[in-house]
Amino acid sequence: MNYALLYVSTARQGLTNADIEKLAVDAQAFNTQNDLTGLLLYSGTHFMQILEGNYDVLNPLLNRIIDDDRHSDVRVIMGAPATGRLFDKWSMGVIDIRNSDRIDPLTVQAIVDQAECDPDTAEAIGMKTLDLCRFFEIHTEGVTRA
Ligand SMILES: Cc1cc2nc3c(=O)[nH]c(=O)nc-3n(C[C@H](O)[C@H](O)[C@H](O)COP(=O)(O)O)c2cc1C
Repeated sequence: MNYALLYVSTARQGLTNADIEKLAVDAQAFNTQNDLTGLLLYSGTHFMQILEGNYDVLNPLLNRIIDDDRHSDVRVIMGAPATGRLFDKWSMGVIDIRNSDRIDPLTVQAIVDQAECDPDTAEAIGMKTLDLCRFFEIHTEGVTRA
């Protein structure tokens, strides 16, 4: 079953650019092999990630992601069967939104804040933000699907 997952989390303090780069390269390798696609936003303090693909692959991956000590407080704000893919070109596009002039890092903070008290609003802002990324094709050079 094709599935889509959206979550936010709190990044471990002190992650370097090299740490994010390694995360992206490793994620890309696994995702390419397993036909997963998606996008990861990093704001310096938080992550937001959408993952798309087969539920039987996504579900165990989500458990590994939850256990990953590079972040904490993983909050899933959307998880549902999906008919298509939003990010079919990217095995894992990565955006450091501190370097983006289109996405305000505070947007991710707002989604995190809403995630607890109002998941529907969090999902709405989250999907809108992802739409923006998709429209402008903002992503790390080279982190495209093979
Ligand atoms: C924010 C974040 C996003 C991640 N996204 C992915 C991903 O899309 N694909 C992937 O294979 N691993 C991803 N990982 C890495 C996994 O958490 C984990 O390290 C990887 O599945 C290897 O697990 P293992 O060391 O238990 O084998 C991500 C980790 C973090 C912190």
